[in-house]
Amino acid sequence: MPNVKIAPSILAADFARLGAEVADIDAAGAEWVHLDVMDGHYVPNISFGPAVIKALRPHTAKVFDCHLMIAPADPYFGAFKDAGVDLLTVHVEAGPHLHKSLQSIRFLGLKAGVTLNPATPVSMIETVIDMVDLVLIMSVNPGFGGQAFIPESIGRVAQAKALIADRPIELEVDGGVTEHNAAALAKAGATVLVAGSAIFSAGHRKGYAERIAAIRAAANGG
Ligand code: DX5
Ligand code: ZN
Repeated sequence: MPNVKIAPSILAADFARLGAEVADIDAAGAEWVHLDVMDGHYVPNISFGPAVIKALRPHTAKVFDCHLMIAPADPYFGAFKDAGVDLLTVHVEAGPHLHKSLQSIRFLGLKAGVTLNPATPVSMIETVIDMVDLVLIMSVNPGFGGQAFIPESIGRVAQAKALIADRPIELEVDGGVTEHNAAALAKAGATVLVAGSAIFSAGHRKGYAERIAAIRAAANGG
């Protein structure tokens, strides 16, 4: 399955030198930059918000793929647009008015994504599938990097792919992605693979390039 995009999650980067880390993964061949926003309320961890994303924007021209793990999320959509994100993804489970949230994101001129926790049936997004540019299948419970991949996620990616059918919607997977599960995920229909620790644990730009290339090669069939 060719042309899978790699989206490093900077949650696993060195926060003391985030601008340089973003420039490094850009140079290392990442297609997207995955931005995990956590509030200590919807998920049990706090990461960073729009001010940090705005500071990172000049360090790369790559797509800023922003995964919101906050509740409420809607009051902050404008701030994330101003910060320079390209795509905003909201959790099905995080708000009472998903249809309205997706409408609001697109009204701002941003691409809209919807994401499902491991326990949430894929059927939950049937009614909004024509309102999104991206479906994100969580392959760990959200909140922390470095967790073990949940194997049942591969079947959930296949279910999401069946729902998407031939619509021009990206199918992203997030959590515990490595070069060892990338092939199965791509075969199931994934078009974007998020990876945090699998890339940043290399520690430097050359290592990032090797890790990205290994995940991509596995996903694209060697
Ligand atoms: C988890 C985040 C993920 C996470 C991925 O809540 O959404 O993006 O940082 O990290 P790894 O690849 O280390 O599982
Ligand atoms: Zn994420």
